Amino acid sequence: MELNNEISNEQEELKAFRKTLLSFWQYEEFAIREHYQPRYDKWMSLSDHQKALLPNDYLYNLDQIKSKIHSNAEFYKDAVLSTAETLGFDLNYLNDWEMPSTSDMNKTCSILVQVYREFSAACQEERNILLSRIQALLNDIGQTDDKLTILVPGVGIGRLIVDLCILAGSTATVISNEYSLHMLTLSMFLLNGNLDVNQYTIYPFIHSFSHWDMKSNQLKGYSIPDIDISSQNQSRGGLNMEMRMGSFADCFGPNVGIQESSQYTVTPDMRLKRAEVESSIDIVITNFFIDTGFNILDYMETITHALKPGGHWVNFGPLLYHFENDANQETVYETNPYTNNREIAKPNTPLKGLELATMEILDIATTKLNYKIKLLEQGIPSGYGKSESLIHIPGYLCNYWVIQLQE
Ligand SMILES: C[S@@+](CC[C@H](N)C(=O)[O-])C[C@H]1O[C@@H](n2cnc3c(N)ncnc32)[C@H](O)[C@@H]1O
Repeated sequence: MELNNEISNEQEELKAFRKTLLSFWQYEEFAIREHYQPRYDKWMSLSDHQKALLPNDYLYNLDQIKSKIHSNAEFYKDAVLSTAETLGFDLNYLNDWEMPSTSDMNKTCSILVQVYREFSAACQEERNILLSRIQALLNDIGQTDDKLTILVPGVGIGRLIVDLCILAGSTATVISNEYSLHMLTLSMFLLNGNLDVNQYTIYPFIHSFSHWDMKSNQLKGYSIPDIDISSQNQSRGGLNMEMRMGSFADCFGPNVGIQESSQYTVTPDMRLKRAEVESSIDIVITNFFIDTGFNILDYMETITHALKPGGHWVNFGPLLYHFENDANQETVYETNPYTNNREIAKPNTPLKGLELATMEILDIATTKLNYKIKLLEQGIPSGYGKSESLIHIPGYLCNYWVIQLQE
């Protein structure tokens, strides 16, 4: 019975991966239809008088959008070929795969900014805002007898795991977690694809048309990746990193206290995995993550479950709650942890609605969850994959805290 469930879950997972790969494969057609074509049609609709008012290079720049979309698509097609091979998918059957949704397709446009943030030299400064602080923390913790285990939930494409492995050297194992198949697909390609430094040029900003001072800045290309991961791997005798796919609370949370939902399941397999990670992590690093969920308390309880007594929770990022304006609802269940029976169902639970302020989070951590604040900085300015030429546009005001779970 259980085995069948596991098989069907695996089949579902592979099906979802195929749909994601297909979305990257179809990016060029989608981006031309959604981003280039309406602008060309708009130009066509203008009177000759107004067409003549536009700059001489207007149409040339519009045409450049199309050619940059094509270059982005080249990068994606290589990512699909490589990931399909890793996952054992036959691209000859691509036409039989489930069609991606519009939301899947939109992600293929927006995720290019994430690739730029994580893997371009232009965003090194942005990444350093956290990395310099982590370096100071590791110096502060000093050498320990045992290897440190660091956990990074919602890691995105995964650059932070590589940077942490390099910072901490052989003294740490870095475990990361991510549930987005779009992120995971690019992660497999960028982390394991043996790419040369600057092998690709991507154009992350060609799908957004506001705020530009000059069109050349919107059209600017960025070389990726800015790091040679395979030689880092070789020179260090292997980077100690692991990726665990799934929702953070599902993979690392406690077995009691969290309601069953789309993000938390109570299968025997997951219950066992969660029991195994209890008190196993020295440092949890949440980077632009804690505002991403429906229920921040699930995240806080998960971090507390995973940390060893004496372990640290390091947080960097703003509180820009992703579901603040989301009108969707879901059903959550109270499940008896001993019988696994769903005892109470709460339908129509809003996804939005639990947007805690910084001081509320820290108050809960210190008065209810047994943490002590070691460091708190507020109002740190940071972009998030911001174009260098939009430097005048405000980014986010971020928190940085280091709090320690008391023994
Ligand atoms: C704003 S991004 C931050 C990515 C990365 N930490 C960085 O700083 O570049 C948030 C990430 O968390 C992931 N995420 C959101 N909710 C999650 C959950 N419940 N479990 C695992 N990952 C999640 C998203 O897919 C996304 O990759």
